[in-house]
Amino acid sequence: MPYSCRAGVCGSCKAIMLEGSCEYPSNPPLALSAGELAQHAILPCQAVATSDMLLRAREVTSVEDIARRQLSVMVVEKWTLASGVIGLRLVPAPGERRLLRLPGQYLDVVLDDGQHRPFSIANGPQDDGMIELHVRHVNGGEFTSWVDGKLQVGDRLRIEGPLGTFVPREDSERPMIFMAGGTGFAPVKAIVEHFIGLGSRRPIDVYWGARSAADLYLRPLAERWAASTQNVRFHAVISGADVAAGERPGLVHEAVLADHPDLSGHDLYMSGPPPMIDAGHRLFMEAGLPEERLYYDSFDYAPEVLARIITGRAGFTGF
Ligand SMILES: Cc1cc2nc3c(=O)[nH]c(=O)nc-3n(C[C@H](O)[C@H](O)[C@H](O)COP(=O)(O)OP(=O)(O)OC[C@H]3O[C@@H](n4cnc5c(N)ncnc54)[C@H](O)[C@@H]3O)c2cc1C
Ligand code: FES
Repeated sequence: MPYSCRAGVCGSCKAIMLEGSCEYPSNPPLALSAGELAQHAILPCQAVATSDMLLRAREVTSVEDIARRQLSVMVVEKWTLASGVIGLRLVPAPGERRLLRLPGQYLDVVLDDGQHRPFSIANGPQDDGMIELHVRHVNGGEFTSWVDGKLQVGDRLRIEGPLGTFVPREDSERPMIFMAGGTGFAPVKAIVEHFIGLGSRRPIDVYWGARSAADLYLRPLAERWAASTQNVRFHAVISGADVAAGERPGLVHEAVLADHPDLSGHDLYMSGPPPMIDAGHRLFMEAGLPEERLYYDSFDYAPEVLARIITGRAGFTGF
């Protein structure tokens, strides 16, 4: 089944409970509206069955045969992509096998105390197992502050993966729209490069939004896709005040909707900050996009961190 945050906040795992009952002993199902709860929508990433259940759920069959595992990787490159965004290249440590995965999936970095931190993989599978990450430094964040200040080339990390269902859907001839916010460009890059590599003739519109042009840290790459591939178009969207010629002002989902007021014939992929994902989810469905053709990863904090933040809010005990 599709999933992203594993914390009850993004809604990508939503299913309908046709029979049975469940409860939410950990996080409440914050991603569900009162209307959805009344229609017996549940979030399988948090729900615990209290009886046999019958669910109506979407499946992502392409990821089901790839086993998740842990391995040790070595940092072979660390560089600055933009202010507050660090690029990392990782290879399997000596004696380790490469991670089998699909473009767009993410991994968890496993910290020394067992906590996990999710990061999307910015490149498709490589023969040498190389993994590229784009890490935004979060103020007060334990892991990303350490990456920013202390992590060095030659250091080892423990990772677990592959995770997630934000992967290419090849069973369609529909035009595709990709929408990325900030480092949400990482998995979009992997999936777009996959479709370009396949020689797909489907129209591809890539929208990348950030506060300033300097934050679009791989813009020349996206512009090269558009220049060298007839069916690819790239749109730089700037929400801050300094908007230059060739850039679009405003929020990235607004630019998508201005160009495509009717989304009923598209497949749409989006990844990035939770507010962008929430707005896109709501407004794209209002523009006619069927929910089963909206694929997304919401860049929430790690499930255990969200659980700590959510603790203390009003509890939800279940049906
Ligand atoms: C599927 C997925 C893919 C992702 N991919 C990417 C990616 O490619 N690139 C990227 O940059 N990000 C990505 N993210 C987001 C990334 O995982 C987080 O930014 C990262 O986990 C932050 O880790 P940290 O240890 O630095 O911060 P954390 O230590 O997790 O802290 C996060 C924030 O919460 C605050 N906080 C922590 N504990 C508490 C508490 N008890 N009460 C109140 N506040 C608290 C901290 O001060 C900080 O501001 C992804 C997320 C998901 C779910
Ligand atoms: S709400 Fe279940 S995966 Fe995000």
